[in-house]
Amino acid sequence: MDLNSELLSFIARSPSAFHAVENVKDALAAAGYRELYETEDFSVKPGDKVFVRRNGSSLIALRIPEAVPSGLMLAAAHSDSPAFKIKENASVASSDGYVRLNVEKYGGMLCAPWLDRPLSVAGRVTMRAEGGLVSRLVDLERPVALIPNLAIHMDRKANDGKAYEAHVDMLPLLSQAGAKSFDALVAGALGVKEEDILSRDLFLYPVAAGSLWGAEEEFVSSPRLDDLQCVFGCLKGFLQAKDTQSLAALCVFDNEEVGSSSKQGADSSFLPDVLRRVCYALGMDETAYLRCVSGGFMVSADNAHAVHPNHGEQADRSDRPVMNGGVVIKYNANARYTTDSVSAAVFGEICRAAGVPVQRYTNRADKPGGSTLGNISLSHVSLDSVDIGLAQLAMHSCYETAGAKDTEYLVRAMTEFYSREIRKTPDGIRIE
Ligand code: CO
Repeated sequence: MDLNSELLSFIARSPSAFHAVENVKDALAAAGYRELYETEDFSVKPGDKVFVRRNGSSLIALRIPEAVPSGLMLAAAHSDSPAFKIKENASVASSDGYVRLNVEKYGGMLCAPWLDRPLSVAGRVTMRAEGGLVSRLVDLERPVALIPNLAIHMDRKANDGKAYEAHVDMLPLLSQAGAKSFDALVAGALGVKEEDILSRDLFLYPVAAGSLWGAEEEFVSSPRLDDLQCVFGCLKGFLQAKDTQSLAALCVFDNEEVGSSSKQGADSSFLPDVLRRVCYALGMDETAYLRCVSGGFMVSADNAHAVHPNHGEQADRSDRPVMNGGVVIKYNANARYTTDSVSAAVFGEICRAAGVPVQRYTNRADKPGGSTLGNISLSHVSLDSVDIGLAQLAMHSCYETAGAKDTEYLVRAMTEFYSREIRKTPDGIRIE
């Protein structure tokens, strides 16, 4: 299968952050990685390949070298995307005989693309089972809901800039009175009794399949490219890389879209907890752990804005990444991104060695732009870091567009990154 078909298959199987992490877990397990549990002892030895999940929606994988780790090569991307979360009392019946789903926003999405699209539902439910409680993933898979637009005849100003009120405009139609309830649909998909389902974390997702398109199929469009394209590229690189004497780490964090401050987000103790426990289990002490971290290097991978074909004026005047132009290094004077001249030079050299072109991104000086998980992670585990991504259009739409060639550029860059070691010297850095 070619790389973009593999990417689109991975995204299609990952309709929620829980599913994305499940698929990363399966890929790691197939490559011989063993799961460690935070509630149990971390028994690891040199040469082990392990991973840890937290909340089922974040994951850290580690490849432990044969000797005491001489450094740390870490990449991080996020498993979540903006979506609509289904509220507790899900069904809202109206006197017109409609049944809608009651939803709220998760993250900062573009609302308009969600309208008039067949939607399905996926996520996690917790239920009674085997004398206790168990959480299971669920995906209704087929279209069950749709958020209809108001006809132009009823809203003549619809094309003049529309303000979407989530509480009013964004509720999807599920059924008409008398149909199966939403809870019955979920229970049916799981093959369990409705009354055994105690609670749920369920999200709407568009069922539209990803596609390759353009005169020469140079573009790839899909839901959730931000940031599953980076999760996919980093995972591939992590699994394909040569063994080194550094600890190789792959982090997939949930909740980037809502500030990362959950127990499993980048702004939690997850990363330092796992790194410290693994280092201690290898017989290292706190000083050895701190030396390993401070000699390390992080790639924070989250997609970047490509110049828009109809709105070139929204991009910076000189740092204007395009799709299919290679990996984008992101800069921000106010440290919203972790890149500095040292980390940019290191990552640029790694890309050069991999034959991968590099582009530069900065916001227009009058636009604040977004931030990402890099600088948040660094407040817990401090090491040199660069923010990168692939250039894409329509970020936070539910159907985003990126460059078909760039998927391979990221895989090549990350394979090179994880195959290398970085040594800090008193006056510089060696990339070995
Ligand atoms: Co992102």
